[in-house]
Amino acid sequence: MAITIHAIRPDFAGEVAGVDLRTPISKQDVAAIEAGMDRYAVLVFRDQRISDDEQMAFTKNFGGIEHAQGGNITKDDEYRLKEGMIDVSNLDKLGQPLDRNDRRRMFNLGNRLWHSDSSYRAIPAKYSLLSARTVAARGGNTEFADMRAAYDALDEDMRATVENLICEHSLMYSRGSMGFTDLTDAERAMFRPVRQSLVRTHPVTGRKSLFLASHIGAIVGWPVPEARDLIRDLIEHATQREFVYVHVWRQYDLVIWDNRQTMHRVRRFDESEPRDMRRTTVAGDAMTAEQASA
Ligand SMILES: [Fe+2]
Repeated sequence: MAITIHAIRPDFAGEVAGVDLRTPISKQDVAAIEAGMDRYAVLVFRDQRISDDEQMAFTKNFGGIEHAQGGNITKDDEYRLKEGMIDVSNLDKLGQPLDRNDRRRMFNLGNRLWHSDSSYRAIPAKYSLLSARTVAARGGNTEFADMRAAYDALDEDMRATVENLICEHSLMYSRGSMGFTDLTDAERAMFRPVRQSLVRTHPVTGRKSLFLASHIGAIVGWPVPEARDLIRDLIEHATQREFVYVHVWRQYDLVIWDNRQTMHRVRRFDESEPRDMRRTTVAGDAMTAEQASA
């Protein structure tokens, strides 16, 4: 059965049918999915009852797997999932929901801010693949914003303003904006800001997009309050409802998004119940800006 993709919104978010992700897929199918990603930036696969190994095998069709190091405050002996799997659940190692005051929970609440995965790494991520193993009874939607459409909608003056700007991204900035500042020296060192271009060009389609995230805390050469004012304005612009697809999760959905063309955030849900979401990430292949010398 051949892969088909139908648009959920015109040119943003598509739903894929005709593929079973439990088994290896053909080169043609990989190419069809990549082409769908280039066009829609978010693809939804329904009813994919996959294991972690099957998810990782599918992920590797699109590039190398990015690992979790440097992206969280979870300690090595606290991980619930194997190497290569990113735990985006609300669960501890024993499968119990984290306590309200658990540091890891408070840190993870930062995922409710608009962001692009791994924009705080010098080489930011290509795709993220999120598999819904247990969904929230209510809430917990993931919202995606189209950063290409957001760029296209800027007026000429704003396009000229943002064209060559370089931003500093760090998990310290996004968490700090939520009042979570309780970090150790080692964590602060791990979360050292990296530089990213504010405007990026997609390597295949050539389309420009805004590379925004709540991880941004500064613009190189700008006073900090002025930088944050501009970034807030741009995020507000880019996340208007006309640019947003809201994904309502069903169990065994797998959603892939292109972090180079989108932002996303998760919405509130009842955290006394398990919500087991497992992510794999396809590593990017290049920096978007030169890094500051250490
Ligand atoms: Fe994310």
